[in-house]
Amino acid sequence: MNRRRRVYEGKAKILYEGPEPGTLVQHFKDDATAYNNRKQDTIEGKGVLNNRISEYLMMRLGEVGVPTHFVRRLNMREQLVREVEIIPVEVVVRNVAAGTISKRLGLEEDSLLPRPIVEYCLKNDDLGDPIVTEEHITAFGWAGPHDLDDMVALALRVNDFLSGLFLGVGLKLVDFKLEFGRLWEDDEMRIVVADEISPDSCRLWDIKTNERLDKDRFRRDLGSVEEAYQEVARRLGVLPETLPAEHQRPKLVQ
Ligand code: TMP
Repeated sequence: MNRRRRVYEGKAKILYEGPEPGTLVQHFKDDATAYNNRKQDTIEGKGVLNNRISEYLMMRLGEVGVPTHFVRRLNMREQLVREVEIIPVEVVVRNVAAGTISKRLGLEEDSLLPRPIVEYCLKNDDLGDPIVTEEHITAFGWAGPHDLDDMVALALRVNDFLSGLFLGVGLKLVDFKLEFGRLWEDDEMRIVVADEISPDSCRLWDIKTNERLDKDRFRRDLGSVEEAYQEVARRLGVLPETLPAEHQRPKLVQ
């Protein structure tokens, strides 16, 4: 029986009180939602794969000096993270037109953007996470100008690093969403990357075929959702041992 105190339950994750003060346990579920909860399903194995993929990416980011909330993976579905004060603004970075920017600005999917474009969305399910501007964010006090500067600088560094990392395994990082939190240490506050980085929060296309290997397979009913997440994990060399052996070898990309 699970006796831990549940701090928060979202669409794809649960946060429990951690073993020490200032920590939380982040539990990855198999549940998937899209279009502001209008589409819901379970993708078997997704939580296990996202836990591994996010662990790997957060650790690699940590190695290059990007601060994150990640501490360590605990088991197949859970990781220990630092407790942060989540900033209610999602930061989206786009390299290639897809999804809502294509619709909003009439851009053909797969057209390269003139430079990485940063957008902000308010974290508010009731309103469908509306796009907002820097003006809204600072005027309503969701984040101060300095916080926002840090968030954008970190988001662009994450974009540079992850674009290269994914390119190395034959994947194009089309776009992704980051969440940030305030981490207090003594009297100092730092902005750190929080939540997760996984095929739920990134668009990842095969570099040669443009095959979608991310949540768009679920959003658009393209099928083989779990297989796509497995393929991302396999290319990164982090496919869990419990999955069939034929999926486990790292794949060299020509
Ligand atoms: P969009 O094209 O739907 O605006 O999404 C851009 C990217 O950000 C895409 O990789 C999905 C991700 N994203 C989330 O993961 N959660 C969100 O709430 C939003 C708005 C975007």
